[in-house]
Amino acid sequence: DAQKLEYKEKIKALLKARDAVLVAHYYTDPEIQALAEETGGCVSDSLEMARFGRDHPAKTLIVAGVKFMGETAKILSPEKTVLMPTLEATCSLDVGCPIETFSAFCDAHPDHTVVVYANTSAAVKARADWVVTSSIALEIVEHLDSEGKKIIWGPDRHLGSYIAKQTGAEMLLWQGECIVHDEFKAKALRELKLQYPDAAVLVHPESPASVVEMADAVGSTSQLIKAAQTLPNDTFIVATDKGIFYKMQQAAPGKTLIEAPTGGNGATCKSCAHCPWMAMNGLKAIEAALSATDASTHEIFVDDALRERAKLPLDRMLDFAK
Ligand code: 13P
Ligand code: SF4
Repeated sequence: DAQKLEYKEKIKALLKARDAVLVAHYYTDPEIQALAEETGGCVSDSLEMARFGRDHPAKTLIVAGVKFMGETAKILSPEKTVLMPTLEATCSLDVGCPIETFSAFCDAHPDHTVVVYANTSAAVKARADWVVTSSIALEIVEHLDSEGKKIIWGPDRHLGSYIAKQTGAEMLLWQGECIVHDEFKAKALRELKLQYPDAAVLVHPESPASVVEMADAVGSTSQLIKAAQTLPNDTFIVATDKGIFYKMQQAAPGKTLIEAPTGGNGATCKSCAHCPWMAMNGLKAIEAALSATDASTHEIFVDDALRERAKLPLDRMLDFAK
């Protein structure tokens, strides 16, 4: 509509004026992803967002995603201004892994290598030996296991148990979860599969083990999009945030994409396949971030000492992923 168009035009002008680039996650609303593409930014998974932000020459990054993604961008590019549409966009994994208790957990097992998911605070990253995202977690844990390392894994218990099962690595798991993926239900998925017997099931590994067990492909957002592109099936049942449908449908035109069933109706389901924090990244908020004169409402700052320490495990991941 007219107002949206107006916001888009304003944002385009502000991106130019501020030498800024829009870095968006696949779970943001389609119009945000389209705008990132249209303006030379990126739409990707969390690993690629980190790399793109680090390597792009723009002075300012505007990160449409959740707080840990903004913090990661700032840790990797302290010289850049990193803005977010809202600083309120957090993640249940980050919230469920406070530094004090996580650090005590690590201290209790000093012979373990600490591997944390990117969905954590800068302080938790600073306590870690390795940071991983879902697209590289399996390879990194395989590598550590081959060196005989015992692992502390945090915070996603579902992703952790999937990786432990796949690799056979000895892993102590923090008991966190993503409120979006935790809602996918195996029983309802089994019933849906009966209706679509030829459909392939694509599952993000933040989902419960009973759902992962039914998958034809398990992987990060970018890996699931790839699977939709390469598997021969005409129909896919997709267990991840529905924001992914925008790029998945582009990658696999003509294929039918169906949402995997979540726990309940609107009354009982906390998230219903769409992350409430990702949903905060609207056009109005992006325009506000780019035009704000008061940095405190939109700019990401990370304490210097923390940033330098957190950069080590992040660089380790990016070097490994090369
Ligand atoms: P990836 O894009 O790395 O698969 O991460 C999923 C996620 O939950 C980000 O919030
Ligand atoms: Fe966190 Fe889940 Fe939202 Fe991703 S989808 S930001 S893991 S709560």
